Amino acid sequence: MTLTIFLVECGLELIPKKIRRHPAVRRNLSMKNYYTQLLDNALHHSAMKNLKNQRKRGRPDIVHLCLLNALGSPLNKIGQLKIFVHTLHDRLFEINPNIRITKNFNRFKGLMAKLLIDNGIKVDGKYLIAPIKKSLQAKLQEIEDAQAIILSEDGHLISSYTDLYKNGLSNDYVLFIGGFQKAHFSDKITSLTANKISLFKESLFAWIVVSKVITFYEIMAELF
Ligand SMILES: C[S@@+](CC[C@H](N)C(=O)[O-])C[C@H]1O[C@@H](n2cnc3c(N)ncnc32)[C@H](O)[C@@H]1O
Repeated sequence: MTLTIFLVECGLELIPKKIRRHPAVRRNLSMKNYYTQLLDNALHHSAMKNLKNQRKRGRPDIVHLCLLNALGSPLNKIGQLKIFVHTLHDRLFEINPNIRITKNFNRFKGLMAKLLIDNGIKVDGKYLIAPIKKSLQAKLQEIEDAQAIILSEDGHLISSYTDLYKNGLSNDYVLFIGGFQKAHFSDKITSLTANKISLFKESLFAWIVVSKVITFYEIMAELF
C-alpha cells in the first residue's frame, strides 16, 4: 500500500516580471544563474510587499525541507511513498522517489528555477521531476479508493497516530499538506475533501508535519 503526499500551494515561482526592476531583486538577479531567478521571501521581502497573496509566496525553503525529510525516509526507501509538489499558481509535479535532492539551498533553488522554466527535470531521458498535466482534483480522482485527508491545525484533533490511518494500511492514503508558512488553504484545496485532521493544538511547520505523518505510517507498517 502507498502513502501519497501532496505538498500544496507551495510558494514556488520565478520572480514575477512586475518586481524584477525593484532594487531588492536587481541586487541578486543574474540571468546566468538559475538560482537567482526564483522568488525568495528572505531576499525579496521588500519587493514582494504589493504582491497578491504575498504571505504564501517566495518560500522555496519550505519545499526544500519537506522534500529532504520525505525523500530520506525509510518509507521512501522501500518504495511506499509518492510525493507531489503543487504550486500556488496551480502547477503540479511528481517527484521521482530516487531523486537525490541537494542539501545546498542555492543549488536547490537553481533546480526549482530550472524545473519551472523547462517544465520538468529530466536526466538520460527519464524524469526526476515530472510535470502532471492534470488538476489536483483530477489527480486525486485517479488514485482510486484512497482515503484523502487534509492536514490542518483547524482539523479534528487526533489523540493517536492510529486515528490518522484509521482504516488500517490495507487502504491507500492521500494527504494534503500546505507548503506555505502563513495564511490558510484556498477553497480549491478545502473542497478536495471534508476530512481534515489536526496533529497538534497549535500550528506546526510543514516539514514537521511531513516528517510526523511519514513516521506514523512507518510505525503502523511496523517498519520499526
Ligand atoms: C505552517 S503551516 C501553515 C499555517 C496555516 N495556519 C495552516 O494551518 O494552514 C503549514 C502546513 O502544515 C500543516 N499543519 C500545520 N499545523 C498543523 C497541525 N497542528 N496539524 C496538522 N497539520 C498542520 C498544514 O497542512 C499547514 O498548511
